[in-house]
Amino acid sequence: MAFIFSEQITNPSVRVAKFLNQGLKKMKAAYFSQYGSPDVISIKDIPAPTPLPNQILIKNKACTVNRTDSGFRSAEYFVSRFFSGLFKPKFHVLGTDFAGEVVGIGADVKRFKIGDSVFGFDDSLFGGHAEYLVIDENKVVTTFPDSIPYTIAACIFEGGHYALSNIKAANLHPGQTVLINGGTGSIGSAAIQICKHFGAHVTALCGGEHLDIVKDLGADEVYDYTKIKTLSELNKTFDFVFDAVGKRSFAEAKPILKENGIYISTELGKHLENPLLGILGNYKKRKRVLFPIPVSKAEDAEFLRDLVINGSYKPLIDPKKFEFEEIAEAYRYIETGQKIGNVVLSLE
Ligand SMILES: NC(=O)c1ccc[n+]([C@@H]2O[C@H](COP(=O)([O-])OP(=O)(O)OC[C@H]3O[C@@H](n4cnc5c(N)ncnc54)[C@H](OP(=O)(O)O)[C@@H]3O)[C@@H](O)[C@H]2O)c1
Repeated sequence: MAFIFSEQITNPSVRVAKFLNQGLKKMKAAYFSQYGSPDVISIKDIPAPTPLPNQILIKNKACTVNRTDSGFRSAEYFVSRFFSGLFKPKFHVLGTDFAGEVVGIGADVKRFKIGDSVFGFDDSLFGGHAEYLVIDENKVVTTFPDSIPYTIAACIFEGGHYALSNIKAANLHPGQTVLINGGTGSIGSAAIQICKHFGAHVTALCGGEHLDIVKDLGADEVYDYTKIKTLSELNKTFDFVFDAVGKRSFAEAKPILKENGIYISTELGKHLENPLLGILGNYKKRKRVLFPIPVSKAEDAEFLRDLVINGSYKPLIDPKKFEFEEIAEAYRYIETGQKIGNVVLSLE
């Protein structure tokens, strides 16, 4: 459905992007106008966006449905409404991860050209759950080579970024020992591979039927979480315990942390204790909790892309396939808490 033709005029004094409307200026999008269950999402034809001078227009070829989208759709944690609208969502098309082709550029764009394959992440304006989206060229968007399929490129960032931010916060060093709880999640599966890239010894927990998948991701030791009642049963100590699915607690992790060991969870905690413990952790020198606020950066997208190119990071993709029109079903699936890695939707 290529209804926008774009042409870059290369004379620098009149460097503009020209958009010639060839037919309907509409696109298919997963639309919502109120917070709630996956039922609030419906597929609609809405106006396609036009790039501002500093933006690129992308024909989207693949996107993920992830826990960030899910959190902003349900607004289950009220705090998310301070970003997305107190009573009603300010943005009607979610989708943080995307991968597609640049089909239009604003007059001031310098980093991209028509025809570039790009992937990225936008958790402030979203837009990835649609056929076209625009993004500021200085936000989290970068090119990738033909060797990476769009459906893989779309899965590089969300899990990889949350994993990388937390690993950086823990200041991981080669030779250190890490425990990753939830090795099959999108964050956990990326974390295993990134920790291995940084030279750590990785122990991971996952469901019994996924032990082989998690070993293949590079974990040195893998245990079935259903058989580990308390983490002390592992009889090991760790420099860093990363609870990538937020199912354990600092109280449980503390006995298995080495002196100066760090615990990070991707969740607030059963009693919303992790942010507070994170603040207290800043004043402690011994075993402590960190609760870093992840900041997404284009340089992290480039770093993660390069890991994919050199084979150190293979985003884990759930075998379950959904058509774009089945996006509400995809949300229901990820909210079972049992997806594997990333749920990707193709728009090609
Ligand atoms: N802070 C943020 O902004 C932010 C952003 C995104 C996500 N999150 C949070 O991060 C967490 C992870 O998200 P995700 O997308 O990576 O993964 P996810 O979809 O939440 O996790 C799926 C995996 O969790 C595993 N799992 C379920 N119960 C478990 C348990 N008791 N112990 C260990 N593993 C268990 C399952 O493994 P098996 O299938 O092997 O059983 C499943 O493969 C979520 O809680 C999400 O809400 C936070």
